[in-house]
Amino acid sequence: MYQIIRPLLFSLDAERGHDLIIALLSILSRNKTALRWLNRRGIQQTPSLPCTLAGLHLPNPLGLAAGLDKNAQAFPALAALGFGWLELGTVTPKPQPGNPKKRLYRIPSEAALINRMGFNSGGLEPFIQNVKRLRQNTNAIIGINIGRNARTPTNQSVEDYLVSLDAVYGLADYVAINVSSPNTKTLRELQEYRNLNHLVDRLIIRRNELATHHDRTIPLFLKIAPDLDPNQIEGIADIAIKYKLEGIIATNTTVSRPDSLIPEYQEEGGLSGRPLRKLSTQTISQLRQFLESQIPVIGVGGIESKEDVKEKIQAGATLVQIYTSLIYQGPAIIRRILRGLEQDMKSMHINDWSSLVERIHSS
Ligand SMILES: Cc1cc2nc3c(=O)[nH]c(=O)nc-3n(C[C@H](O)[C@H](O)[C@H](O)COP(=O)(O)O)c2cc1C
Repeated sequence: MYQIIRPLLFSLDAERGHDLIIALLSILSRNKTALRWLNRRGIQQTPSLPCTLAGLHLPNPLGLAAGLDKNAQAFPALAALGFGWLELGTVTPKPQPGNPKKRLYRIPSEAALINRMGFNSGGLEPFIQNVKRLRQNTNAIIGINIGRNARTPTNQSVEDYLVSLDAVYGLADYVAINVSSPNTKTLRELQEYRNLNHLVDRLIIRRNELATHHDRTIPLFLKIAPDLDPNQIEGIADIAIKYKLEGIIATNTTVSRPDSLIPEYQEEGGLSGRPLRKLSTQTISQLRQFLESQIPVIGVGGIESKEDVKEKIQAGATLVQIYTSLIYQGPAIIRRILRGLEQDMKSMHINDWSSLVERIHSS
């Protein structure tokens, strides 16, 4: 079906195409009959590969990466397509329009995207209303990815994250702290040791207070960039170990560009999809060296197939997320990847996800 829709969709400007799909999924997300219909074509055709992440029980290891459902309008329909878990956002405390358009570019020959959206967000208020309203239409595991408003001075960033953590705490299965989007000026500076240490320190203290208040501890994950040098990665790993962060999501999009003459590569912004794959895998490998086995890593960046999933696992991830390949291949990619992994597990006489991860790590 997506093969029929794709040429039409790709004839539109990339952001218009995206908005159209979100609008459609948002209508489906509000309608229980439509969701049942989607479920029959999605979840019910998707192999069950149960796994756990920081105490969360997931139906399968393939998650939707942040940035597609920024305002939490479409997650029940996205969940019905077969994702094991979904990350919503990035949401910023106050509404903001993001960068001027045009700000999203397709590069079909490379199965890549470049975006400089800049956290276009409706803000926390409508986001929370949407989650509350739609939560009852799905039992999917949802993470909420939080970021900073563009106008917030860098030295006041922590306040933005605290406000968001407070607001989403009762609604999220986990919270992802996004310090790695390249399109909000100085955001990535929060990955520097002193800044990150301060941010994580404050967030962990607040999370622990909220845990007492809500009688439930939700995991905190940190999402990092693929453009870090080994020293920076070591610093991040140190902080993650020191504060016992529950996971690291590696990686966001890259500001680097492959050596190629493709004109779109001149566009400013974060590059995702196929050209990001190796860089993201490399970041995971380096992170894993410093983390040892203490903290789970979620692998994201350029995954298009079950082989790419296994590459991320081999590098040290335990679960994965996708975004760009969903745009190019459509929802059938979820089933394709998971069926492929299920078949491999059968042929290796492995019947649970953690055994597959262990086997790949030790191979
Ligand atoms: C259009 C677009 C918007 C994105 N927005 C966000 C975002 O708001 N927050 C975030 O943490 N990551 C965002 N990302 C990054 C993705 O979550 C993911 O980390 C990255 O695209 C690499 O995965 P992929 O190669 O499978 O797309 C965005 C990516 C794209 C393509």
